[in-house]
Amino acid sequence: MPGTKQSIAVAAAGEVLEGEARIFEAKGLRIAICRVQGKLYAVEDLCTHDDGPLGAGSLDGHAIECPRHGARFDVRDGRVLRMPAAFPVRVFSVSEKDGQIHVEIDE
Ligand code: FES
Repeated sequence: MPGTKQSIAVAAAGEVLEGEARIFEAKGLRIAICRVQGKLYAVEDLCTHDDGPLGAGSLDGHAIECPRHGARFDVRDGRVLRMPAAFPVRVFSVSEKDGQIHVEIDE
């Protein structure tokens, strides 16, 4: 059904440590899951500037920096914080349940 979301377990909760971004795959997507101040965030591992591997970049507070040309995005809502990217990165709802990290992805 269009618009329906599926909750998918992608990792054990302990696999993403504070201040770290790690990449997981779900439904054909590569998703970077980050933990900042204890809370999880999930962004697509695909920089909107030129498809760089965003999840391989560094995390500075809520900002994730693309390792290719230095664009920065806010992991909370995907908005661009620094050029050269002009468009927001895709974000996903993420939660911890029963020791697992779950990401909500469109059906
Ligand atoms: S591909 Fe990410 S900044 Fe260029």
